[in-house]
Amino acid sequence: MIKYMVIGDPVAHSRSPGMQNAAFEFHHLGSPYGARRVRPEELPDFIAFARKNLAGVNLTVPHKQAVIPLIDEVDPAARQAGSVNTLLIEAGHIRGTSTDGYGLEHALLENFHRPVRGGRFCFIGAGGAAHATAFHLADAGAAAIRIANRTVEKAGRIADRLAELHPGLTVAVARPDETAKLEEWLADTDFLIQATSLGLRDEDPAPIEPELLAPGSNFCFFDTIYRETPLLRRACAVGIPAAGGELMLIHQGAKSFELWTGLEAPVEQMRRGFREYRPC
Ligand code: ATR
Repeated sequence: MIKYMVIGDPVAHSRSPGMQNAAFEFHHLGSPYGARRVRPEELPDFIAFARKNLAGVNLTVPHKQAVIPLIDEVDPAARQAGSVNTLLIEAGHIRGTSTDGYGLEHALLENFHRPVRGGRFCFIGAGGAAHATAFHLADAGAAAIRIANRTVEKAGRIADRLAELHPGLTVAVARPDETAKLEEWLADTDFLIQATSLGLRDEDPAPIEPELLAPGSNFCFFDTIYRETPLLRRACAVGIPAAGGELMLIHQGAKSFELWTGLEAPVEQMRRGFREYRPC
């Protein structure tokens, strides 16, 4: 019986069912996790259905923000980020939280063996992915978060809020075409995080000048998209430690599983389930 679900629009590409069912099966709990396409206008009806029939939900685009006014309780960090990707449902009560920042933190640890605490971050992008993760990184002890975004006002809104919450944190904003400023930032950066939606399609350009990823750079490059993007290709070509978003998805899913079940997430099995699952 389906008790857990990922919803989105579109959702057909999601590998969460393969990944989560691998975890449930590991603990001999069957395959209770499904996927459903929910259009934006259907979200309130879906939440009413979930309240009565489900134990947990993962939300993906475009629902992470829209769900907030529809549920009973939102964790402070998720409210701060304005982004909820996990619902925990118990006796009709729905609590929302976000595991995306945890997913990024643990992907960085596993990929680069470098901790977030004390780390200097440079984000490209100020949309959903940056919102969902930047506040978590600041809470986890990041030393600097600089954000470059085409619409610089959006970067400014995140930076202002971060500065308010974390007075010791270095924050700054720029447009992605301010190359000299970005060069300066990157000389003082541990992690460059690509958090725009560019790279989802083959024909997408790079969001910043690829030459900014120069041979001999001291930062690691992480792309929140889990396919090869122009910047990921560039980083690999010039020998910068680099990774795509796969481990972020696996670790955010592992955290959701642990919140729902109270059991330890079998990360290796989830990784295999994620890779082997062929969504239809
Ligand atoms: P939204 O911010 O509307 O919720 P998103 O998918 O969460 O959308 O975020 C998309 C991110 O990719 C944003 O940082 C966006 O930049 P803007 O804030 O200026 O829109 C960025 N992005 C998308 N398409 C882009 C493009 N063609 N060039 C540069 N940045 C782009």
